[in-house]
Amino acid sequence: MNETVQPETVDADRAVLDHFESTIAHDQRIEPRDWMPEKYRKTMIRQIAQHAHSEIIGMQPEGNWITRAPSLRRKAILLAKVQDEAGHGMYLYSAAETLGIDRGEMTEMLISGRQKYSSIFNYPTPSYADVGVIGWLVDGAAICNQVPLCRSSFGPYARAMVRICKEESFHQRQGYELLMTMMRGTDTQREMVQESVNRWWWPSLMMFGPPDEQSPNTEQSMAWKIKRHTNDELRQRYVDMSVPQAEALGVTFPDPELRWNAATGHYDYGQIDWDDFNRVVSGDGPCNAERIEHRRSAHEDGAWVREAAIAYADKQAARTKTAA
Ligand code: 3HC
Repeated sequence: MNETVQPETVDADRAVLDHFESTIAHDQRIEPRDWMPEKYRKTMIRQIAQHAHSEIIGMQPEGNWITRAPSLRRKAILLAKVQDEAGHGMYLYSAAETLGIDRGEMTEMLISGRQKYSSIFNYPTPSYADVGVIGWLVDGAAICNQVPLCRSSFGPYARAMVRICKEESFHQRQGYELLMTMMRGTDTQREMVQESVNRWWWPSLMMFGPPDEQSPNTEQSMAWKIKRHTNDELRQRYVDMSVPQAEALGVTFPDPELRWNAATGHYDYGQIDWDDFNRVVSGDGPCNAERIEHRRSAHEDGAWVREAAIAYADKQAARTKTAA
């Protein structure tokens, strides 16, 4: 854990707060050793932990298809993609650890339901087309949301996001390439793609979070330049970028109200089912229980690895001490 500079007097208090605010105002980064308001630290832990958990839980829906991918090439691609998600989770847990929380604590909070993860990973993947659609739509939404986070005010988070976004863009392209291959195949394959798009479109719009007027965190997070755009701004950007991609692919989105609005220069879209979103976020989605149970048992099964690693580290430390 890093040592945080603590103000000792009212003047010092004012000076560190001024320094924090001026760092944000000048678009510079807050680093772990800098003083920061407690609320900023808590907000960063909340967002980074939720993001890390999403990457780790997000391995499950697609992991479901690793043993059943239709060719060696598709299996190798999917394995690499799921491994990348694990890597993203690790960078993000490390970024959160610089704020004074440890990974074990965050895992406990995930398993006990005290920290959230993205709603999107609580839907099932019954069809192989889901692998392509998750790559295209879910990773596409993730990129749209996460590219601005590369300019987030907290240094370790912003730097982790640069690498994550590069890999996410690759994931999105592999998803789209898989779907293009299926769309060039048989009628059944085309139907599989359309059926999968019908299930994932609305949940992918929910990934951006509640509408701005119902988002309790946006205003403060924008003021601190943690978030650079509001939830609705990013959702609109995602809709605008996805419609031409769907047309090129030859699929439609399940929204009769989706149409180009020449006056606004954007696509209008229908009403999102926020009751469904709230149900999923509060733990009552189609796969919430299964996802958490799987994560809990993986954590428990891995206890011996953690014990062995600690025993090895203690042994190394004792050797170094003796040698000194
Ligand atoms: N799923 C679950 N919870 C969500 C959510 C979602 N899609 N969207 C919002 N929430 C939660 C928030 O965490 C917040 O919870 P809390 O205040 O009780 O802790 C509450 O709903 C209110 O939402 P706000 O809009 O006020 O919250 P934020 O300002 O934090 O904005 C966010 C939400 C846009 C998701 C923002 O936190 C963010 O950009 N996070 C980083 C990106 C991220 O976590 N993405 C998750 C997907 S990762 C991924 O997709 C992996 C890839 O491999 C595909």
